[in-house]
Amino acid sequence: MLSKGLVFPETLPLTDWPGRPGLQILRGDLLNPVVSGNKLFKLRPLLQQATKQKASTLISVGGRYSNHLHALSWAARATGLASVGLVRGFPEQELTPTLADCQRWGMQLEFLPPKDYQERHKTEFWQTWTSRFPESFAIEEGGWSEQAIKGSSQWWQYLPSDIDCVVCAVGSGATLAGLLRAAPQGVRVVGVPVYRDPQHYQSLVMRLMEMSIATEPLELLVPQADRGFGKLTTEQQAFRVLFTETTGVSTDPVYTSKVVHAVDQWWHESEALRRWRTVVIHTGGLQGNRS
Ligand SMILES: Cc1ncc(COP(=O)(O)O)c(C=O)c1O
Repeated sequence: MLSKGLVFPETLPLTDWPGRPGLQILRGDLLNPVVSGNKLFKLRPLLQQATKQKASTLISVGGRYSNHLHALSWAARATGLASVGLVRGFPEQELTPTLADCQRWGMQLEFLPPKDYQERHKTEFWQTWTSRFPESFAIEEGGWSEQAIKGSSQWWQYLPSDIDCVVCAVGSGATLAGLLRAAPQGVRVVGVPVYRDPQHYQSLVMRLMEMSIATEPLELLVPQADRGFGKLTTEQQAFRVLFTETTGVSTDPVYTSKVVHAVDQWWHESEALRRWRTVVIHTGGLQGNRS
């Protein structure tokens, strides 16, 4: 039985983007007072499966500022499950506000030096950790899984039916995959990658094809990854401030700042975009602004 805290609202506000007719922001950041954005879409079906399998503990991985671990620790507690966070870092480092919350919500933190953390995509990595915690349910980085993709398709419930284009950030790609899977005919699905890692995106497209998710509506605005994960260029930083002044919407430095900057640049370049009705999904992450 999942807690009431994991219930979704009936609707989400759409905020107009002044000076950019046709563009609106879907306020995923207002989804839940603690865990906003795309997290509950991805986690809810995973929690349902963990509960069905009678797991008592969720284990997942992330960095010291991870939105994913933050949301997971809260959702685990709301569901009555224990949680373990395998964190890239060292125990002697001061806890970030993100990890302090995780710990407060009962997550057991295990710190892995970068060379061990690198192993996180391997089966043996998970075998080791799940055998250390009996009755545990392992969740991949960023929640990537069939369940998270299914959950992410539910964004369509909040999107207007007459849009031409929807835009989201791409980390693990689960949110993008969910949007693609349930996209109405003719609607473009645009992703803004935040890692500077072309291989990751090529393999993401391959994985989507293997899962029989249609990639024709997909477009990736790759150059926005720019300085790499968690780093903004001076231009992106300046745009982030301007965007908040213009729209009243705050963004996080890792995902949504890059997305709105990418869309703004694209709006200047693309006559088509200026004609379309486009919704940019705010996937949350504002907890990261404290660090
Ligand atoms: C705030 C925020 N936006 C977007 C994403 C990217 O989502 P996905 O991993 O589903 O591609 C993440 C990571 O999960 C995130 O924390």
